[in-house]
Amino acid sequence: MKLEDLKHPKLVAWVKEIALMCEPKDIYVCDGTKEEYDCSMKALLDVGLAKELTKRPNSFSFRSDPSDVARVEDRTYISYPDKDDAGPTNHWMEPNELKEIMKKLYKGCMKNRTMYVIPFSMGPVGSDIAKIGVEVTDSPYVVCNMHTMTRVGTKVVDVLGTDGEFIPCVHSVGAPLADGEKDTKWPCAPIEKKYISHFPNENLIWSYGSGYGGNALLGKKCLALRIASALARREGWMAEHMLILRLTNPEGKKYHIAAAFPSACGKTNLAMLEPTIPGWKCECVGDDIAWMKVGDDGRLYAINPEAGFFGVAPGTSYESNPMAMESIKENTIFTNCVETDDGDVWWEGMGPAPKHGIDWKGKDWTPETVDDKGEKVKGAHPNARFTAPAKQCPVICPDWEDPKGVPIDIFIFGGRRASTVPLVHEASGWDHGVFMGSIAASETTAANIGSVGNLRRDPFAMLPFCGYNMGDYFKHWLDMGDKIGDKAPRIFYVNWFRKTDDGKWLWPGFGENARVLKWMCDRVDGKVEAIETPIGKMPKDGDLDISGLKMDDADMKELMKVDVNAWKEEVKSIEEHYGNFSRLPERLKKQLEELKKRLG
Ligand code: GTP
Ligand code: SPV
Ligand code: MN
Repeated sequence: MKLEDLKHPKLVAWVKEIALMCEPKDIYVCDGTKEEYDCSMKALLDVGLAKELTKRPNSFSFRSDPSDVARVEDRTYISYPDKDDAGPTNHWMEPNELKEIMKKLYKGCMKNRTMYVIPFSMGPVGSDIAKIGVEVTDSPYVVCNMHTMTRVGTKVVDVLGTDGEFIPCVHSVGAPLADGEKDTKWPCAPIEKKYISHFPNENLIWSYGSGYGGNALLGKKCLALRIASALARREGWMAEHMLILRLTNPEGKKYHIAAAFPSACGKTNLAMLEPTIPGWKCECVGDDIAWMKVGDDGRLYAINPEAGFFGVAPGTSYESNPMAMESIKENTIFTNCVETDDGDVWWEGMGPAPKHGIDWKGKDWTPETVDDKGEKVKGAHPNARFTAPAKQCPVICPDWEDPKGVPIDIFIFGGRRASTVPLVHEASGWDHGVFMGSIAASETTAANIGSVGNLRRDPFAMLPFCGYNMGDYFKHWLDMGDKIGDKAPRIFYVNWFRKTDDGKWLWPGFGENARVLKWMCDRVDGKVEAIETPIGKMPKDGDLDISGLKMDDADMKELMKVDVNAWKEEVKSIEEHYGNFSRLPERLKKQLEELKKRLG
């Protein structure tokens, strides 16, 4: 499509304004067709950025620049005129100042590149719950990924009409080309020039310098979480970093579960789990983001605003996540995996390693390859990803595109904790549940550039994604609870990641996690009582179904232990965490005081 084909004066004027600033060689408006995908991919194949895989139909492998492998939280800004509105957990700069810096970077940044205009819908096109964005980008890699991750094209333009509302998203890799120069490697800017900026008061996103994942596919974290969370608060709904699944018990009763775990902490895996307990069935509605509104019946209904999975590759196998493996058999983009000699991809934890391949840095690799220090070199980057259409998932829920959404029965929070936090505990009520979300903590992962394995508070798994003051965000959760009252989902906290002293997983995880979900459903149905502990309600002996599971009694005991001394230490760290907030709701302070009292 050409710019002249657009009949929306405000959109056209905005595109022209960005083009004037970025100086692309031409402008192309995306129509979302297969031909367009093929043509963008061909451009990437021609310059050697993509490699077609012979083992998976219509699938391609990419390697990013070694500096451009994950989200960049340190370079991510939430920009309000008043710093306090961004709150203590976000990086902030005054909007005009930030725009001046970025305008200088954007000036001429698309030289000799095409500027693609991508009209996209988060949520089913035309549904009440959906939001329309328009991303301009100089990256054909982004175009292909957006085709899979969102709904792109002319249908969106039709819904926009002549004056429909859209969220403008500007993206540039920040690597203009000299005349006659061709891309020979993944284009991006150095870290200190990367900016992932959000202006929530204007519903505006400006991203510069990175071509990777959440930095570049602006519908995902930037729009569907940071901008949407701010919008949701203003409009009385919720935008959360949550998977959504439907669980059906042997009697055919359906439960809908939404779970918030930090990045690379198991959402995709739980969203499409294959229950190991007989008669139970799981279907996937979404694996990363949930938008939730109160329905006519007063319950909370969730939709998945995305259309694809941008999933962590390492660790994904037919043993751990067979449904993901089935989803990525074709029409999939792989980034930063090993390319095998027989035209496939491989990553750590997928299964037997190839004898030889090309690693994510483009070097010859074998399972024996070591670095200068003699340490084994990983073939795939720990944040290597696959981009696959959600509809390819064999257990995608038949209602996954229902604009009404699915009614949520259970909320789960969690994270990676080698110690202290037991396998599962339940909140005594909504406020206690919100307290549990607000103190969620996890060891950091490779999904962000930075150190890995450090324990940090990641409230509601939203630390990197909350588009406003986190204290106000806690308040919004309390307000939503007041609004839904006794129709509110029950709240649980899980930890699949407890380790033994010698570093082994205590819990088998993956499909076995269904056992924990079953206990939650039993609790919702009032089928089982729970034990009161200082931190919350826990399964009575025998109520967690571990039949057929080969587990040490001692390991099980360790998994279910509430170590009062460890929790007293935890309280100190929670107090420190809470000390950062000037807008902390009194109701949460009260929850902390009550926890302290219960710990004695
Ligand atoms: P983002 O896409 O970054 O938001 O990540 P995510 O929350 O969807 O995490 P994902 O499901 O992709 O899992 C990340 C890593 O954790 C993978 O390497 C998984 O194999 C591993 N993992 C997931 N679930 C479990 C589990 O129950 N136990 C263990 N030990 N590892 C798990
Ligand atoms: C995450 O980091 O939570 C992701 C991957 O889902 S990204 O899209 O890069 O944010
Ligand atoms: Mn995520």
